[in-house]
Amino acid sequence: MTTIKTTLMGLAAGLLLSIAPAAAAEQAAAGHEEHYQIPRLKWTWGGIFGYFDQQQLRRGFKVYKEVCSNCHNLGLLSYRNLGEPGGPGFSPEEVKAIAAEVQVFEGFDEQGNIAMRAGRPADNFVWKFKNAKEAAAAFGGAVPPDLSLITRARGIEREFHWYEYPLVMAKDLATQYQEQGADYLHALLLGYVDLPAGRKIADGLNYNRVFPGNQLAMPQPLSDGQVEYGDGTPNTLDQEAKDVTAFLGWAAEPHLAERKKMGVWVIVYLAVLAGLLLLSKKVLWRNIEH
Ligand code: HEC
Repeated sequence: MTTIKTTLMGLAAGLLLSIAPAAAAEQAAAGHEEHYQIPRLKWTWGGIFGYFDQQQLRRGFKVYKEVCSNCHNLGLLSYRNLGEPGGPGFSPEEVKAIAAEVQVFEGFDEQGNIAMRAGRPADNFVWKFKNAKEAAAAFGGAVPPDLSLITRARGIEREFHWYEYPLVMAKDLATQYQEQGADYLHALLLGYVDLPAGRKIADGLNYNRVFPGNQLAMPQPLSDGQVEYGDGTPNTLDQEAKDVTAFLGWAAEPHLAERKKMGVWVIVYLAVLAGLLLLSKKVLWRNIEH
């Protein structure tokens, strides 16, 4: 018995001794990865009665257009979507003017040269780069991802004990929490903080406390006062990040408000139907022994 015990203890000590220096060396080289607990925010489109705030979407579009579109695209969106109900609500003239600012590949002319034309409302958003290779060359190999579905493609890690899981699930269900991607995106845009002491990052990358691994190719895109709003809303970094997140949240699901409204009516309908069925059952069975 004692021999087994000593062998086991010896094994454990050996393991510890072999792992500990390696782990320490690794930490000294890279520094600790920062685990930032992303706060949960209130978005107008959260919950059962969610909707997008038109003024906020307009401001968010301005941020997207003036800043993000220098590197990213929204390839799944077409310009006419900007004029649809539930969205930023641009007039047909405004949509035409926005679309006309880009050049779209049309084909080849008589001499075989590439022919371009001004964009139309039915065109999809045009990326600044010809293709991913051109973008990768500009950012040391990293490609700015298409942002059409980004608020759906990202989430947040929440720290809780395993036994809290049912509680978290119940709370998410009750509050219809589906804005994890928005919370992540907003935190990412605010996440460019000073490099902690002792932490090193690769050349050409930027430190961000939210991005997994804490270093990414995107330089801090937004800062206080970067985008002029013109509607009296203070253009702080936080506000700009919230507005562009709202815009990208809408872009990922332009018919969200309609869907949620329909959901409420479906529940009302089902409740009325259930009441009627109960009543008719009472009437039909009133003379029958049961
Ligand atoms: C100067 C170019 C540039 C600008 C401007 C820019 N980005 Fe980026 N972005 C990048 C690059 C490059 C990456 C890829 C980073 C990587 O993989 O290391 C990226 C990645 C991202 C990601 C993905 C992060 C992840 O979790 O994978 C999001 C989201 C994003 N950008 C949002 C935005 C938003 C919103 C704006 C406008 C406010 C913006 N970006 C402006 C270059 C840019």
